[in-house]
Amino acid sequence: MKILIIGSGGREHAIAKKMLESSHVTDIFCAKGNPGMKKDGIQLVDIAEDKHEELISFAKDQEIDWTFVGPEIPLLNGIVDDFQAAGLRIFGPNKAAAMIEGSKEFAKKIMVDNQIPTADYEAFTDYEAACAYVKEKGAPIVIKADGLAAGKGVTVAMTLDEALQALKEMMTDHRFGESGDKVVVEEFLAGEEFSLLAFVKNEKVYPMVIAQDHKRAYDNDLGPNTGGMGAYSPVPQIPSEMVDTAVEKILKAAALGMVKNGTSFTGILYAGLIATDAGPKVIEFNARFGDPETQVVLPRLTSDLAQVIDDILNDQEPELVWSDQASVGVVLAAEGYPNAYQKGMPTPSFDDQVTIYYAGVVDDQGEIRASGGRVLLVEAEAETIEAAQTKVYQALDHAKTEGYFYRKDIGAKSLK
Ligand code: AMP
Ligand code: GLY
Repeated sequence: MKILIIGSGGREHAIAKKMLESSHVTDIFCAKGNPGMKKDGIQLVDIAEDKHEELISFAKDQEIDWTFVGPEIPLLNGIVDDFQAAGLRIFGPNKAAAMIEGSKEFAKKIMVDNQIPTADYEAFTDYEAACAYVKEKGAPIVIKADGLAAGKGVTVAMTLDEALQALKEMMTDHRFGESGDKVVVEEFLAGEEFSLLAFVKNEKVYPMVIAQDHKRAYDNDLGPNTGGMGAYSPVPQIPSEMVDTAVEKILKAAALGMVKNGTSFTGILYAGLIATDAGPKVIEFNARFGDPETQVVLPRLTSDLAQVIDDILNDQEPELVWSDQASVGVVLAAEGYPNAYQKGMPTPSFDDQVTIYYAGVVDDQGEIRASGGRVLLVEAEAETIEAAQTKVYQALDHAKTEGYFYRKDIGAKSLK
């Protein structure tokens, strides 16, 4: 098989690296990818994610068997629709189905129609009405920009003032552009978070092992929200009955609900969940693999990922086997991230106990240097989360990390 992957981050690096383990795969191309991927034999394609026609031509010229889409933006731009219209195979939801991520209001409608447990909410386009509702409900309360905002369009307001400030920034100061023209105001859910992902083909759902992301920039979940600072899998403090319930009442119900809605979903469905006293509840759906969850979930997959996708595309039952090993991944971020950050630092080298997934890097005359906020992720597997943590943090502590920072507590919640 020759496979094309759309995207350029650590998630795509992990997907590509896993697929390259397959004896059925000869070539993995990544558009645009990043130069760190080349170390693992992934071939880079210099075509931007939004150049659908050029990507289609490339896939035809290279006789690509199928294409896999990493990020949400091309999905929401209809890359799947365009490839399929050109007669090409591609794994991911079409534009209509990707709205489960693209619009919080659409996702809420699917949840309400299918009795999927989630926070109570109300959507607003009118600023005054949103303020009045927030004042009536009181804090804590959650304010979300309706459209995409790269994980940053959410304010968990512990006070009424914070909530009103967030509404002002989104709706009148347009801090997230058009994404904030509509806001969703949501009930605050208390409990521990976990991410449950599945391969989905219409009503069929093949769940993965769960992971826990760390969205805040600093230790002990302090600081601003980011795209994710690290993750680990499994998440032993989440009981397996909670996961089973989530598979049945959330993932399977959502997949079936999407079919009934006339927006059948094929691709990776990601449920961001909170384990409340009343069971798992949805905080968000994504239409793709999570970043950085993928970098700790896929190393635990012992089955052939390329074969899994190929089987699902061919309407066959995939074989999914997961290892009992624990995986921990810690993001090495540029100092300043998620605000203005440093660029141009050399990327450190690490000992061979760990796997490196590159993200925000450029090739500067043969040297791989930092160019993005989240530069790379250091991952290791071991018998226990503690042992995997030790490997990752030893590697990071010995590396030259001037100009960078990383959280020191990834996985700590599982050890309390
Ligand atoms: P989201 O972008 O929807 O995943 O939200 C970002 C983060 O905000 C989540 O990872 C949670 O930590 C938090 N969050 C979102 N919705 C809620 C909620 N209803 N109750 C409590 N925390 C929430
Ligand atoms: N890790 C959260 C996300 O990928 O949306």
